[in-house]
Amino acid sequence: MRTANKTKRLMPRKLVVRTNPHSIAAEQYRTIRTNINFSIPDLTSKIILFTSASKEEGKSTTAANMAIVFAETGKRVLLIDADMRRPTLFRTFQLVNNTGLSNLLLGKGNLKHSVKASGIPNLDLLMSGQIPPNPAELLESDILDELMGEMRELYDYVLVDSPPILSVTDAKILANRCDGTVLVVNTGKSEKVSVEKARDSLATAKAFILGVVLNNYPLTSENYYYHNYND
Ligand SMILES: Nc1ncnc2c1ncn2[C@@H]1O[C@H](COP(=O)(O)OP(=O)(O)OP(=O)(O)O)[C@@H](O)[C@H]1O
Ligand SMILES: [Mg+2]
Repeated sequence: MRTANKTKRLMPRKLVVRTNPHSIAAEQYRTIRTNINFSIPDLTSKIILFTSASKEEGKSTTAANMAIVFAETGKRVLLIDADMRRPTLFRTFQLVNNTGLSNLLLGKGNLKHSVKASGIPNLDLLMSGQIPPNPAELLESDILDELMGEMRELYDYVLVDSPPILSVTDAKILANRCDGTVLVVNTGKSEKVSVEKARDSLATAKAFILGVVLNNYPLTSENYYYHNYND
């Protein structure tokens, strides 16, 4: 069982928006894109964090698919793997994690040379970089503010994938610095109390909660109707 879980963890996250752009799931990601744009209309450059209460709720899958639907609109998008504990972005896009956020936070290299092309128009990627012993301390450094300033100049949307907020402090630090936070909830698996704790934790961090994404949500017949209608 442990081996099966580990194998699953090492698999790339599914980019349904890329493989099946007309699917119901892809359309749902576009709806979330619209809602995010309505929630923070005034900023020309938006830095958005994706987190969840617990592990494996779908943060990385949601962040990657959202990055693609934002890039579809012709805007410049950067997707960052700020989960320096269990990074997955390099696997999802079949790239190497030789350099990335951790290296930049240590003052090594620069943003322009550290981002990688995703193969999708308008979408760049910043890997986690080598796994550091102290991710939270790195995120608390002033260098992160400088980096975010540079990112705002280069990109219209910066999407940040992070570890679960109830496990480690990383997401709390990031939530405080991002323009908005999306809380990903694994429907049916997440305990209500955990979601409430995550919300409280984000409130303590003075995060601007944009909304909740219900991942693995069972679809109703209405969803199918609209899917067919649009086809
Ligand atoms: N909507 C979905 N439908 C099917 N499988 C999904 C969905 N969302 C996520 N998964 C699968 O669930 C597992 C966990 O997803 P993901 O890595 O995106 O979660 P995470 O919250 O980033 O996890 P972690 O806490 O380890 O960073 C992966 O195997 C992923 O492929
Ligand atoms: Mg993840």
